[in-house]
This record gives sequence, structure tokens and C-alpha cells, in this order.
Amino acid sequence: MLNLHKDHKNLVLLAFSVFVTLSICVAILPAYQMEEYEPIPGQRDLTASERRGLAVYISEGCVACHTQQVRNIEMDRTWGERPSLASDYYYSKKRMDIWRQSPSLLGSERTGPDLTDIGNRQPSDQWHLLHLYNPRLVVKRSIMPRYSWLFRISDTLSVKSDDVTLPRSITNMQGSDVIVAREEALDLVAYLKGLQQFSFEDYKSTMDFIPALSKGNVGNEKVSQGASLFQNNCAACHQSTGRGVKGAFPPLAGSLIVNNKNPETLIKIILMGYDARKEYGVMQAFAEQLSDEEIKAIADHERSSWGNSAPKVPLEIITKLRDSISKIQ
Ligand code: HEC
Ligand code: HEC
Repeated sequence: MLNLHKDHKNLVLLAFSVFVTLSICVAILPAYQMEEYEPIPGQRDLTASERRGLAVYISEGCVACHTQQVRNIEMDRTWGERPSLASDYYYSKKRMDIWRQSPSLLGSERTGPDLTDIGNRQPSDQWHLLHLYNPRLVVKRSIMPRYSWLFRISDTLSVKSDDVTLPRSITNMQGSDVIVAREEALDLVAYLKGLQQFSFEDYKSTMDFIPALSKGNVGNEKVSQGASLFQNNCAACHQSTGRGVKGAFPPLAGSLIVNNKNPETLIKIILMGYDARKEYGVMQAFAEQLSDEEIKAIADHERSSWGNSAPKVPLEIITKLRDSISKIQ
């Protein structure tokens, strides 16, 4: 038996191994899990100025009053068109440098509005600058603190042509003084304007960016109807490789639903849409857009591509399911 009262070596060793085990479970494993997340294709990386702005956002502690997460509940609908996904944070959560893990800016306190989509809601540089200099200049009863140290006072004569100044009429300056935005303020505004929720409707992956299709295409002139229907309707989210996007859209390659001998769930998902799990976004219904024949072609394509192998779907099943669904609705 370990005698921890008399043997200090054992005591230190035990404490140390508990510390290491806990560190692995609490800090290291979750960090590895995060590494697997991917950006949504078409999502944009931060510019150099935005990244510096992110650092200002962190050092000024804006996260104390502002969240950057749209939750999947009714009251959050004001802040974005859809609930936030892990992939949304891909670029802002990249490691800052070798010593510093990316900070979490999701926030937990909403004294001020959520900023997930502030770039769309408020695209004006001047508004943001005035608001940072003194929130009360643009929002009369704001309780947000001033960040006037992000600005300096300068003489009108010594202002350079690329300096950004605040309008003198609003800032009430004496004599020939003007307020000039420092680099930090401009970077922070660039970051705020870049905070725009990525809309799935805005992007379509292009045909020549399709490894799976172009491979299958060698030698035969035409892509099967199922493949091109999948490309036009489903690939934007599930990707033409069927791999999906980790943190946003589930993979169809290897999916139990797609490969199930009984295709009922698969067809229902295509007809009615799907929103079953928190970690993924929402899939819309396709009953209006696609005919039974088209759904069959897509389903057969999914069930025979990317390593999937399941029998073809009989057309009658689709017709029957569509009838039973329209009866419920
Ligand atoms: C003490 C809490 C607090 C802190 C800290 C704070 N804010 Fe605010 N913020 C608010 C409140 C309250 C509002 C709503 C009133 C207003 O628009 O001024 C607001 C509004 C905003 C808005 C406008 C949002 C909209 O939807 O119109 C932006 C942008 C903003 N803040 C950015 C920042 C930035 C950047 C920082 C850090 C430099 C910061 N805030 C720090 C409380 C805070
Ligand atoms: C706007 C993005 C989007 C489009 C377009 C889309 N899906 Fe989905 N799909 C999703 C999301 C998100 C889920 C997961 C929903 C959940 O679980 O909450 C999903 C789930 C699925 C599943 C279940 C997979 C599994 O194993 O869980 C299938 C099958 C599927 N989609 C097929 C299709 C087909 C076929 C099309 C084209 C007709 C299509 N999807 C178009 C976003 C999309």
C-alpha cells in the first residue's frame, strides 16, 4: 500500500499524475476535438487588419458585455438568420501564436446586443468610430463605456491625408482640434464590419471543383442525372464528395440513413427537410422543388457513391410517402 503520510515522494507523484490526467481530459483532448472542425466552403478568412482588430476586441474586454452566438431559441432570432455552428468560428478561433490558444469570444453576458451579424446590421465605418469614441453620440441612452483612448486629438493642420477623423460638428471640438482614429480603432471597426453571419443561400459550389464527379466522369460523356441533380440541390451543403462539413453538415458517405436497406427515412428527409441534431444546421424540405423521379435519381446516386452501397429505391415508395405526408399536412 502507498503510505502517503510518511512518504512524500509518493504523495508528490500521486498529485502530479492526477494533475496530468486531468489536464489531458479537460484541456488537451477537447482542443484536439476542435481541430477536426472545418470551415464552410466559401467562408472567408480574416484579413490582417481584422485579425489585429480581433486582438483589440480581446484586450478591451468587449466580450464582457457582448456575445457572438445565436442560440437555437426564439429570442435569438433577432441576432441572425440561423443558429450558430461550430464551423462559423473556424477562422476567428485559429491559434493566435504558438503560445496562445485562440480565445473564446462566444461570451456569456448580453449587456449589449449580440454581435454575430453586426457587420450586416451596421455597415457604416463612421457610425462605428463615433460609437466607439463615445456611444452617446449615436445612441442617446447607451450605457456602453467610451473607448476614447483608441483615438487621439490632433491639430487640423497636422492631420495627414489618410488619417480618419471624426466630424467636428458632432464631437464638439475647441479651436482647430480634431479627433483622429488610431490604428487600433480602424482595425477594430474592420473586425466589427467583418462580423457577418455566413448565409448558406449565398453560395453554390461550382462544377469544376468536384473531385468525385470529375473522376467518375473520365471517359463517359455525361454525368448521370442523379449526380447532376445532387450537385445542384445538395452538394452546396453535403459537398460533392459526400463528406459534408464537420461542424455544419453531416456526411452522406457512410451514413446509416443513406445506406439503410429501407429507404423510408432517407426519402422522408428529402421530402420534409431535417432538423434533428443540435450540432448541425437545418436542412430545408425539397418536396416542392423535386419530382418523385428526381428524388429517386438523387437517392440512387447517394446510395451508390462514395463507397455507399444500398439497393435502388423503387419509385412507388417515394410516391406513397409523398401522398402520406401531404395527407398529414
Ligand atoms: C459595459 C458593457 C459594454 C462593454 C464593455 C462594451 N459594450 Fe458595446 N454595447 C453595450 C450596450 C449596452 C450597447 C447597446 C447601446 C448602444 O448601441 O450603444 C452596445 C452596443 C454596441 C454595438 C452596436 C450594436 C448594435 O446592434 O447596434 C457595437 C458594435 C458594440 N457595442 C461594440 C463594442 C465593442 C467593440 C466593445 C469593446 C471595445 C464594446 N462594445 C464594449 C455595452 C457594452
Ligand atoms: C442548406 C444545406 C443542406 C442542403 C442543401 C441539403 N442538406 Fe441534407 N442535411 C443538412 C443538414 C444540416 C442535415 C442534418 C440535420 C440534423 O441532423 O439536424 C442534413 C441531413 C441529411 C441527411 C441525413 C444524414 C445522416 O446520416 O444523418 C440526408 C440523407 C440528407 N441530408 C440528404 C440530402 C439531400 C439528398 C439533399 C439534396 C436534395 C440535401 N440533403 C440537401 C443540410 C442540407
